[in-house]
Amino acid sequence: MVESKFSKVDFSKYFQPPSLKDARRRRREPVHIINDFSIPDEMKTIGRGKKYLIETYGCQMNEADTEVMAGILEKMEYQETEDTDQADIILINTCAIRENAENRVFGHIGRMKQLKLEKPELIIGLCGCMAQEETVVNKVLQTYQQVDLIFGTHNIHRLPQLLQEALFSKEMVVEVWSKEGDIVENLPMARHGHFQAWVNIMFGCDKFCTYCIVPYTRGKERSRRPEEIISEVRELARLGYKEITLLGQNVNAYGKDLKDLDQYGLGNLMDEIRKIGIPRVRFTTSHPKDFDDHLIEVLGKGGNLCEHIHLPVQSGNSDILKIMGRGYTREHYLDLFHRIKKAVPHASFTTDIIVGFPNETEEQFEDTMSLVRECRFDGAYTFIYSPRSGTPAARMTDNVPMEVKKERLQRLNALVDELAAKSNAKYQNQVVEVLVEGESRKNASVLSGHTRTNKVVNFVGPETLIGQLVHIKITEAKMWSLDGEWQREPEVAGR
Ligand code: SAH
Ligand code: SF4
Ligand code: F3S
Repeated sequence: MVESKFSKVDFSKYFQPPSLKDARRRRREPVHIINDFSIPDEMKTIGRGKKYLIETYGCQMNEADTEVMAGILEKMEYQETEDTDQADIILINTCAIRENAENRVFGHIGRMKQLKLEKPELIIGLCGCMAQEETVVNKVLQTYQQVDLIFGTHNIHRLPQLLQEALFSKEMVVEVWSKEGDIVENLPMARHGHFQAWVNIMFGCDKFCTYCIVPYTRGKERSRRPEEIISEVRELARLGYKEITLLGQNVNAYGKDLKDLDQYGLGNLMDEIRKIGIPRVRFTTSHPKDFDDHLIEVLGKGGNLCEHIHLPVQSGNSDILKIMGRGYTREHYLDLFHRIKKAVPHASFTTDIIVGFPNETEEQFEDTMSLVRECRFDGAYTFIYSPRSGTPAARMTDNVPMEVKKERLQRLNALVDELAAKSNAKYQNQVVEVLVEGESRKNASVLSGHTRTNKVVNFVGPETLIGQLVHIKITEAKMWSLDGEWQREPEVAGR
């Protein structure tokens, strides 16, 4: 039997309860750039002969955080494993964006009870966005005593110290700061790929869309210094990386908080990165409100800036957008969309859409459908609205019946599929540039990669092509992928 840790928790010492209310505040405190990451001497070899496993849910920000945690653990000599039975430490990096994402994590931790009974020295840690919610922390404290360690998104750099406490005390260690957030610059990183890399350019979000939990779990918008980002990108270029993705929840707000720089924004940053010898540069996620003309102009210069824009719209109806707190109208979005399209004619566009927001009428939903038709998106992530406790929308009456939400989602998805197929059909017989990422998920003898416009391409070729940019002639366009033939002698630089 695992002893009840709950009864033994010394709250004063370990338990710093998170608070969504505190996390909501924006006190305009200055952002501190911290360089004080360190590993206590007695922890430097603690992982020798031991293995770690990190499970990652959620968005690219979490994937990038996982690479930092992996880097920290490897500095303590832990080695990676994918086998749960082999692991001495398992970290679950969670996402709080929708209820079903959370439920999956709870189910998963529940099943880990048996593992912990069989291997009591195993350390199980919960981190990521769910750890920032007090309801989650309370639930774990009360029901999931197999968990040894809970830490928040602002506490990642403290992993060595927290792990030390978890290893040498029998109590559940909880450290979650509900603060606006700092930037920690000197963290190690074990990047997952050798030719594709995430580059955080900013953290947090100040948009407070009424349905969204992210501003609470990730703190305020804070930008990394351009010189730090550029030197990271230069280093990646030197190491032979082929593609980088600049990351942030609202990358178009980049630079707003860098008061000493004169209106330095994402356009300026990308204009500098454009000159670095890395073949592909992507960025995500864009917010329509802050997408400015300078960025459009820079994107129009092409070069290594890929022609794919992810521009979440959420709804095609201005009244719904208003109660979502998005800060733009349908007309503004469409105007922006067409201006980007004009500047970058071959760009592909993807979006995010929520259906069944409180009070959404059939007519308002039809506005979303008509906007999707007008934009002819290449793809869309579509979601049924999920109330997140602590957010303003969760206090609105959720008056759209579930059957209606599901039916709207189905109709929307059918339209998205139809448009994706049409957009892919245009690639028939074209020669496109593909970054070869690995074997296809469905068939190991087939290689797979993405075009600059972010389309999946499958083709037969030697494994030695993995990590290279090749030219592929498209022979069959499917709804969500393209099949093609490897062109040994590239003909043209395609799209
Ligand atoms: N920063 C990005 C989105 C991050 S979350 C942006 O502003 O576009 C990714 C997507 O999840 C969102 O675009 C939205 O479509 C969806 N989402 C966020 N909160 C949600 C909720 N409470 N219910 C359903 N979908 C949600
Ligand atoms: Fe959430 Fe809105 Fe911020 Fe995106 S911009 S992370 S949807 S609050
Ligand atoms: Fe999820 Fe947190 Fe990302 S809530 S979507 S993992 S920022």
